[in-house]
Amino acid sequence: MKKINIAIDGPAGAGKSSIAREVASQLGFVYVDTGALYRAIALFSTEYPTKKDFLKHLENDCHLELKYFGGTQCIFLNGENVTESIRTPEVSMKASEVSALPEVREFLLETQKDIAREYNVIMDGRDIGTVVLPDADLKIYLTASAEERASRRYLEMEDKPDKPTYDQILEDIKQRDYNDMHRAVSPLRQADDAVLIDSTTMGFHEVCEEIMDLIEQRLDVE
Ligand code: DC
Repeated sequence: MKKINIAIDGPAGAGKSSIAREVASQLGFVYVDTGALYRAIALFSTEYPTKKDFLKHLENDCHLELKYFGGTQCIFLNGENVTESIRTPEVSMKASEVSALPEVREFLLETQKDIAREYNVIMDGRDIGTVVLPDADLKIYLTASAEERASRRYLEMEDKPDKPTYDQILEDIKQRDYNDMHRAVSPLRQADDAVLIDSTTMGFHEVCEEIMDLIEQRLDVE
C-alpha cells in the first residue's frame, strides 16, 4: 500500500525537527531528519585531507544507518553511534559545505526515497518537497526570521559552557542560509505547491496545531 509522505523544508533553526518529531509522534509516523545524514557525511569527510580523497571513499567506505529507539532517530556512521557528535557548530558548517556537492546529494537520494517508500514519514530537510519527494502528500515550508532563529538557538544553548554569542549564532545562521539557498544543486527553496508557515511570532504548539489541521484537511489520517 502506498505510504503517506509529508515533507517539511526550511532554513536552519526554523524548528523543523522538534515540530516534525512531535507531529510524527501524534500520527504514529516515522520522523526522518535528513540533516543528520548530511551531518554524518560531514563528520566522515573530516577523516580525509582533501575533497578528492573524501569523494573517492564516499561510495564504498561511508556506511550510514538510521535506527529508531522509541521514535527517536539515531544515526550510525560505520557502526558508531554519532547522533550526538554531529551536533557541533563545526559539523553544522561542514554539513552545509558538503551538502553542496552533487556526489553527496546523489549518494543520499535513494536512501531517503527508500525510507519514504517503506514507511509513513514526516521527512525534514532542504529539498524534500522539491527533489526527494516531489509527489509528497503534503509539503510545508517552515521558516522564521534569521534573528528569531538565532535567538531560539541562543536560548537552547543556555547551559553549554562554551556557548557562542548571539551575534556569532546569527552570523552562522545567515552564512548557512546563504550556502543552502545559493548552491547549484538542490538549493533550499519553497516548492510551488508547499504551504508556507512563518513561525517568527508563533509558539511551538501553535505551529504543531496548524500542521495537524492541514494534515486533517488534506489527508485521510485519523
Ligand atoms: O537540518 P540541519 O541543520 O541538521 O542540516 C545540516 C545541513 O545539511 C544544512 O546546512 C543543509 C544540509 N541539508 C541539505 O542540504 N539537504 C537536506 N535535505 C537536509 C540538510
